[in-house]
Amino acid sequence: MSQYTLSINGQARSVEAAPDTPLLWVLRDHLGLVGTKFGCGAGQCGACTVQLDGQPARACLTPVSSVGSLKVRTIEGLSPDGQHPLQRAWVELDVPQCGYCQAGQLMAADALLREHPKPSDKDIDDAMAGNLCRCATYLRIRAGIHRAAQ
Ligand code: FES
Repeated sequence: MSQYTLSINGQARSVEAAPDTPLLWVLRDHLGLVGTKFGCGAGQCGACTVQLDGQPARACLTPVSSVGSLKVRTIEGLSPDGQHPLQRAWVELDVPQCGYCQAGQLMAADALLREHPKPSDKDIDDAMAGNLCRCATYLRIRAGIHRAAQ
């Protein structure tokens, strides 16, 4: 076991964990931040997407020992009041179906909008290709990102 101090949603959080513990389990089991979801555990689905220094990252593939001083942002840190433009668009357009993948979708979409404030369909499809949705809400996700970019 080792001690780590991580920057998570703007706060310093201390955890004790084995170095190879995935960030996903640190977030969920050690810190109670259960908005980030476990899907495949193998980097294939995107359900566990968080941001590291603003870039989307798979929390299931990120050993806690590799995080260092990178700023971790989770769905809980997307906005203090649930009123992020993407969250408003998601509600207005009824984007989720079962909802399981949507935290990861939102974190990937937020990272996209930071790089491309007015993304094209292709920008969206390219950026979101790694985030799978078993309910196939892809067209509503795309529409929600366009709505949030307005
Ligand atoms: Fe991490 Fe699927 S749970 S990519």
